[in-house]
Amino acid sequence: MKILIIGNGGREHALAWKIKQSPRVKDVFVAPGNAGTARDAVNVPIAAEDIAGLVKFAKSEKIDLTVVGPEVPLSLGVVDAFESEKLRVFGPSQAAAQLESSKAFCKNLLRQADVPTADFQVFRDPDDAMRFIKGRFPDERDRCPVVVKADGLAAGKGVIVCKRRNDALDAIDRIARHKEFGAAGAQMIIEERLDGQEASVLAITDGRTILPLPPAQDHKPAFDGDTGPNTGGMGAYCPTPMVDDALMAWIEEHVLVPTVHTMKRNRKPFRGVLYAGLMLTPQSGPKVLEYNCRFGDPECQPLLMRLKSDLVDILEAVVDQTLDQIPTPEWDPRPAICVVMASQGYPGDYKKGQPIVGIDAADEMPDVKVFHAGTRLEGDTVFTDGGRVLGVTALGDSISLAKLNAYTAVQKVRWSGSWCRKDISDKALQFIEQQQAAQ
Ligand code: AMP
Ligand code: GLY
Repeated sequence: MKILIIGNGGREHALAWKIKQSPRVKDVFVAPGNAGTARDAVNVPIAAEDIAGLVKFAKSEKIDLTVVGPEVPLSLGVVDAFESEKLRVFGPSQAAAQLESSKAFCKNLLRQADVPTADFQVFRDPDDAMRFIKGRFPDERDRCPVVVKADGLAAGKGVIVCKRRNDALDAIDRIARHKEFGAAGAQMIIEERLDGQEASVLAITDGRTILPLPPAQDHKPAFDGDTGPNTGGMGAYCPTPMVDDALMAWIEEHVLVPTVHTMKRNRKPFRGVLYAGLMLTPQSGPKVLEYNCRFGDPECQPLLMRLKSDLVDILEAVVDQTLDQIPTPEWDPRPAICVVMASQGYPGDYKKGQPIVGIDAADEMPDVKVFHAGTRLEGDTVFTDGGRVLGVTALGDSISLAKLNAYTAVQKVRWSGSWCRKDISDKALQFIEQQQAAQ
């Protein structure tokens, strides 16, 4: 088989690495890819948003299956474009991808499907939004536990978590008056702020059958102890002990099943990866913060490192709508951790083009794989080419051993200004300690 993967991040390198292991696969192309996919597959210089260019390439190369990594091409209708040319493609249609591309669409669907989520209101007019905040919080010194969100895609940045009334009024200004997030801010959501631990529950679905994947936890804030600005994700581990089998069954029944069912009933069947970003609230259990319509980055890296079954069989079963007929996938029982190494300055401005040393030494360690994100290959040298540069991923017999393995590998890799969070997976260790203490 010939496979095309769309995207250029750590997720796409992990997909390429895993798909390449399938005995059924001959060639893996990645458009546009990075230095890691240039080594493990073949890069094609077509941008992930160039839908016409991607369709043309898939036709001329006779690609058997295309896998879409990021949300932007999905929101532009890449799946619809491929399907109308009778090309096989893994991912949701443009209509179904609205679950991620419009937060208002998502929240209304959650309400219709009776899936637990924060209370919310949708606004178009900033004056209405301001009046709502001032009405709910008459004294400006009051606590104001709300979250203000731009409706559309904003690379994870269009979400402003507020403490005081002024934070909320500022957020409305930034989204609706200063148009900081462009067209994504044409509508806004104001919702109740929730507290708790966050978890990522991803499931693969063909629109009828749901295959939940082991739960993971991302680390979105830039710095240790969950401080600093939000990022695309500074590291992830899988499975997280915070979602045990009983909670997973609850999430499947009360979150995944009603969502997939309601999408189907609304004639927007969801096929692909349904990724629930959940807040595990201490008082009222899991609530959906958002849906993504693709693999998480970096959650995909530890997930795929643990998958023992052939990923291509699973992806094809989604395209063929035969997910109910394939054997249950096998997982490595060992946990996996991905530590993101970033450029100095990320998530703000950063320099590109720094030469990286030590990737091969890290890759040679047992149970370690260095997934590339923002990298570029020139000759034999790998240069930085983005904010999140590498996702150093390792397995271990326990979460602590996986962490030790990953950070030992991280220490072998260097470039000018490289940094990472030092506490990826510590929340799991604290959780296990608290549970033991409570017993
Ligand atoms: P989202 O893109 O909607 O997942 O939001 C990005 C991040 O903002 C989440 O990972 C949470 O950390 C935070 N967030 C979003 N919604 C809420 C909420 N209702 N309460 C508290 N934090 C939130
Ligand atoms: N890791 C968060 C995301 O992929 O959106």
